[in-house]
Amino acid sequence: MKNTLKTMLALMLGIMMVFAMTACGGSSDSGDSEAAEGGEGGTLKVVTEATFAPFESTDEEGNIIGFDVDMMNAIAESQGLTIEWVNMEFDSLIPALQSNQGDIICAGMNKLAGDRAEKVDFGDTYFESDLMLLVKSDSDLTGIDAVTSDMKLASQIGTTGGDMVQQMKEEGKIADGVVLNQWTDCYLQLQNGDVQGVIVDKPVGEAYLNAHSDIAKFVGDSFGEHEEFAFAVQKGNTELLDKLNAGLAELKENGTYEELVAKWFS
Ligand code: ARG
Repeated sequence: MKNTLKTMLALMLGIMMVFAMTACGGSSDSGDSEAAEGGEGGTLKVVTEATFAPFESTDEEGNIIGFDVDMMNAIAESQGLTIEWVNMEFDSLIPALQSNQGDIICAGMNKLAGDRAEKVDFGDTYFESDLMLLVKSDSDLTGIDAVTSDMKLASQIGTTGGDMVQQMKEEGKIADGVVLNQWTDCYLQLQNGDVQGVIVDKPVGEAYLNAHSDIAKFVGDSFGEHEEFAFAVQKGNTELLDKLNAGLAELKENGTYEELVAKWFS
């Protein structure tokens, strides 16, 4: 009888110890470290929208190229990070980080715009810009203030330019604010005469004009909020953000940043 009782007590003690171990996270694959370093095997997903040359666009083989790509690749190398690039619509970028479908946004995104900084954490500014009005070469428009209520303006959905054309429509300043997924479609609508202007970031409009100065031009001065482009990480991922900021500072320190500016904006 006594031996049976002893055996039962030892068994109960053993079961209690197993439960105690499991409750204290005894698992070695908690995955916490992996979460900080990104998804599968520590590869970080950099999400972007690649019709925004010279920051990001696609070459003939479909590779994503541009200033942002070279800059982030150099930052990743300097910080020992493994990254992969994922192309998606601009207004999907912040939701991608919020739903853990991406780790870094690098897309010429203005860190000062709207409520973006409430949803993701932005890094240090890596480029500054303003908005401009792009029109056809034969347009009589002299600037954004000369646009009339019978006109249509286009820009990219989810961007500062896109928000502006929609606001102008709501205020009755234009007949329609056309917001499209890709900048290339905005330019096409301009050339087809479907819209009378495109609101675009100055360096991006300049890149377009370098190749299309015969059919388009800028009119007037820049307008809207002065923009500060920054990469972004998921809210609270300070470990990754500190690495990216350190990498950017290193690029500026060792001359790589200036070389990339010369390469993509000369
Ligand atoms: N700078 C503007 C913004 O932050 C436009 C950015 C568009 N970027 C892109 N890769 N399509 O809204």
